[in-house]
Amino acid sequence: MQRIAIYPGSFDPVTNGHLDIAERGLKLFDKVIVAILQNPVKSFLFTVEERLEMLEVSFQKYPNIEVEPFDGLLVNYAAKRKSHAILRGMRAVSDFEYEFQLALMNRRLNREVQTVFLMTGFRWIFTSSSIIKEAARFGGDIKDMVPPIVNQKLKDKFELTS
Ligand code: PNS
Repeated sequence: MQRIAIYPGSFDPVTNGHLDIAERGLKLFDKVIVAILQNPVKSFLFTVEERLEMLEVSFQKYPNIEVEPFDGLLVNYAAKRKSHAILRGMRAVSDFEYEFQLALMNRRLNREVQTVFLMTGFRWIFTSSSIIKEAARFGGDIKDMVPPIVNQKLKDKFELTS
């Protein structure tokens, strides 16, 4: 039986920290499905199509990583994809409370699905999509923190040159 993990997130946009978690997830699972939140209530900088493209390009060298948008409850999506594991990255202590709530709610909703946490690689401990977007908006150099396509898309979005 194939061990499949769902790695869910907003990925607005994907960062090198996300890549690190998905790659390391492959050491534990046969397949990782990167599931992009398609939530009409939440507002994102990038459309779901843009986030999908950035993720697909960033993961193109990994045949065992699939990228797909999802909506509705995560545990329902996991069941639909025949997965019993949700993969999440944990950075600093500040992530803990939210992740704990999310994991407990998901467990309450479906006890067959387990949440697996990986500690974010030390290099990426202080990076987040929001802080990267803020730096990029004001012309900060964030190219070492994101895949090249994301660096370019952020420049395009904020109409920055060079
Ligand atoms: O990258 P993010 O924004 O921290 O990811 C949050 C995500 C996508 C994991 C979470 O919002 C989610 O799972 N949303 C789908 C709805 C759901 O099932 N929520 C949790 C139980 S109420």
